[in-house]
Amino acid sequence: MLVSVLAIGGLGVMAVMGVVAAFIITGWIGQPVPVLGFEQTFDQPIDFPHTVHASLLPLDRVAADGEKMDGLGLDCTFCHRTVTTQANAGIPPVGFCATCHQVIGAADNVQINLLRDAADIIGDDGTEPVNWKRVHRLPDHVRFVHEPHIRYLTQNPSEVTGTTDGVTQGAAGVCSTCHGNVAAMQQVEQVESLKMGQCVDCHRDNGAPTDCVACHH
Ligand code: HEC
Ligand code: HEC
Ligand code: HEC
Ligand code: HEC
Ligand code: HEC
Repeated sequence: MLVSVLAIGGLGVMAVMGVVAAFIITGWIGQPVPVLGFEQTFDQPIDFPHTVHASLLPLDRVAADGEKMDGLGLDCTFCHRTVTTQANAGIPPVGFCATCHQVIGAADNVQINLLRDAADIIGDDGTEPVNWKRVHRLPDHVRFVHEPHIRYLTQNPSEVTGTTDGVTQGAAGVCSTCHGNVAAMQQVEQVESLKMGQCVDCHRDNGAPTDCVACHH
């Protein structure tokens, strides 16, 4: 009796320790295991399709003339203007979108009308920002800066991973390394774990700093 209780108790402790160890290992090394939930996406206040704007390929979408529509192939940096110079990539304000959507898009396109309303082209609420939900968000104790990464990857194309359906030249050609094929996404989702292990592995392989204060406040 005592022996079997001890045996079961021992197994239980081992099972708990196994689970704890698995969490510590995945947290630390950050193996990209999708079932652990880093693969994430959110519905946005306006259903903004990267496909239509950023892809260069024919879309699963028919234009007014009945022909299949091609993506516009806008460069990522056309909208994410500060990605090559600052920490944040930046999301364009509605006024920027309105330069096209004042006229582009049918008068009854519900999603574009949400944008026209926010930009005060229709409706009478005045301009208001769109509260886009953040898809990629590191904890507050971590420091990330886009600028050095874009510069390094542009200069070292062999370190770029992934592919893009959009522009492949210059800065836009390197984003897939951490964000996947955004130009093919109807709705942006996080496809890389972007855990500490992934950051540190790449830093070690490319002679970038690996001391704690490089990335932690
Ligand atoms: C360079 C011009 C241009 C800019 C800038 C632009 N768009 Fe568009 N957008 C288009 C075109 C062209 C279409 C396709 C219109 C159509 O099929 O009727 C489109 C389609 C859309 C649609 C409709 C998608 C659908 O499924 O019907 C939405 C929503 C949209 N854009 C939002 C935005 C937002 C938000 C911004 C700013 C971040 C933006 N656009 C900036 C040109 C632009
Ligand atoms: C027409 C403007 C436009 C273009 C071109 C564009 N984006 Fe975006 N992007 C946006 C807007 C608006 C959002 C916020 C809404 C959303 O998440 O879909 C966004 C969101 C994102 C996000 C998610 C940000 C977060 O919350 O974590 C990533 C990553 C991204 N874009 C990468 C790219 C890449 C890579 C390209 C080029 C292949 C690109 N974008 C081209 C307008 C644009
Ligand atoms: C080395 C990896 C890496 C590369 C390369 C990279 N990003 Fe990011 N990106 C991140 C991380 C990590 C975050 C989340 C940052 C945070 O929460 O502080 C992020 C956040 C973003 C965001 C949302 C927040 C913001 O900064 O405005 C956008 C938009 C974005 N990236 C666009 C791009 C575009 C466009 C490119 C290519 C020109 C690119 N990224 C290249 C890792 C990367
Ligand atoms: C694709 C490889 C790669 C990935 C992935 C990557 N980095 Fe980097 N990172 C670099 C390189 C290379 C540099 C140095 C660039 C230079 O200045 O030459 C750098 C520089 C930095 C710097 C500036 C350090 C300084 O003080 O000069 C910070 C901060 C940083 N990375 C944080 C991160 C974080 C946080 C992540 C994970 C979310 C990450 N990086 C993912 C390659 C990478
Ligand atoms: C290249 C960037 C980078 C370096 C260098 C780095 N970290 Fe991190 N660290 C991160 C990122 C990104 C996260 C958040 C994502 C995660 O939890 O893995 C993080 C998370 C953590 C966490 C929280 C883990 C959790 O589960 O919440 C601790 C603790 C930590 N780091 C300690 C350290 C220590 C100690 C060092 C120095 C030996 C260090 N880090 C060096 C990028 C880095």
